[in-house]
Amino acid sequence: MTRPVSVDELLNRELELFEREHPRSHELSRRAERSLLSGVPMPWMIRWAGGFPVFAADAHGARFRDVDGHEYVDFCLGDTAAMTGHSPDPTVRAVAQQAAHGITLMLPSEDAIWVGEELTRRFGLSRWQFSLTATDANRFAIRLARELTGRPKILTFNWCYHGTVDETVATLSRGEVVAREGNVGPPVPLAETTRMVEWNDIDALELELAHRDVACVLTEPALTNIGIVLAEPGFHDALRQLTRTHGTLLIIDETHTLCAGLGGYTAAYGLDPDVLTLGKAIGAGIAAGAYGFSEDVGERLEAMLPRDERADVGGIGGTVAANVLSLAAMRATLAEVLTEDAFARMIALGERFEAGVTGVIERHDLPWHVTRLGCRVEYLFRRERPRTGSDAAAGGDAELDRLIHLYALNRGILLTPFHNMALMSPATTEADVDLHTAVFDEAARELAEF
Ligand SMILES: Cc1ncc(COP(=O)(O)O)c(C=O)c1O
Repeated sequence: MTRPVSVDELLNRELELFEREHPRSHELSRRAERSLLSGVPMPWMIRWAGGFPVFAADAHGARFRDVDGHEYVDFCLGDTAAMTGHSPDPTVRAVAQQAAHGITLMLPSEDAIWVGEELTRRFGLSRWQFSLTATDANRFAIRLARELTGRPKILTFNWCYHGTVDETVATLSRGEVVAREGNVGPPVPLAETTRMVEWNDIDALELELAHRDVACVLTEPALTNIGIVLAEPGFHDALRQLTRTHGTLLIIDETHTLCAGLGGYTAAYGLDPDVLTLGKAIGAGIAAGAYGFSEDVGERLEAMLPRDERADVGGIGGTVAANVLSLAAMRATLAEVLTEDAFARMIALGERFEAGVTGVIERHDLPWHVTRLGCRVEYLFRRERPRTGSDAAAGGDAELDRLIHLYALNRGILLTPFHNMALMSPATTEADVDLHTAVFDEAARELAEF
């Protein structure tokens, strides 16, 4: 074969290889077109780098096999929901045991108290509620913030992601808040519900909060959904102080940043949010979300929401939310999987991954960089570290992204789609990390030859 001379040619070579090596997945994806909308169970699955998705056969720990018999090291890990590793034994045991003794009852189990107490120990907030997803945790937290403050709007940061929360699927366009590209059926113009500023922009934050119509700021403590964009020194202090000054609640979404350690970024960096939301990995992938309130906010909510009128039509809840299976999964996962020892291992692997990528970038003198937050690592195809979500978005290169993902997939590595992101689980090994470094090096060498 002649040597490819452009990203395009290299991509075509890898697409041919992918199709040749995945006949069964290809066949299943054709069959799926007859019963599933666009041939996939979820819309974004159509966007996997190979043109059709790899169909999974089974997964355990940091690895999975596809229906064509290939084994992969999984750095995507269900994009964080399986940060525990796939099917960790303690969670599987607890779920099997609980499933045989009731799945959902509309009654609490003792596990709910255990999980509430453990979340308080880890994150410091004192009153907890449960949902099925992080999206719902965010939606319910926003509703409660509106109710408590009597204010209509929320504030988020440009290029944030908090799940399918209507108010957050927005972006800034020439200073105006508009629906983000691809937002499907927004219920109202986004400027009616949302104020938005760039991450790390304290002046803009102050100006927007001064309108005094913002019920809450909803943010991750570092953006993790447009590459990783870290907070600059002083940003979190300013955010906390300004939200307090303007009577706005601060909701910290730790769904992804739990990767920073046992109590997420909040514990690692001493944040003091009014509300904290979580989901994904806390149940090792069994549907589970949680949202917690500070003592003060919890007491104000308890005083405000009349007990006898808290019917199930208030916009918060869900029949199967806080079900006993979900709580059993959270208890086992927190007690035995996402432990202090596990985080120490995972973060050390994250450091190894980061060092491997840094070495490759330097060796081939590429204008790229890598960022790490705990056991989450992401490389971006621009030299400078972004300050804002817009900087990070401008550094995106869709063609190069696709090539790197496909190149890795064809060599037994799954990266997180729409990112060049890798997560370490307690089951990930140094050899897994080194395999990625070797494959990334090979890709970089081929690219550097153009
Ligand atoms: C920070 C953050 N919050 C919330 C969510 C929503 O999680 P889910 O889709 O599981 O509801 C996501 C999803 O990626 C996320 O990244």
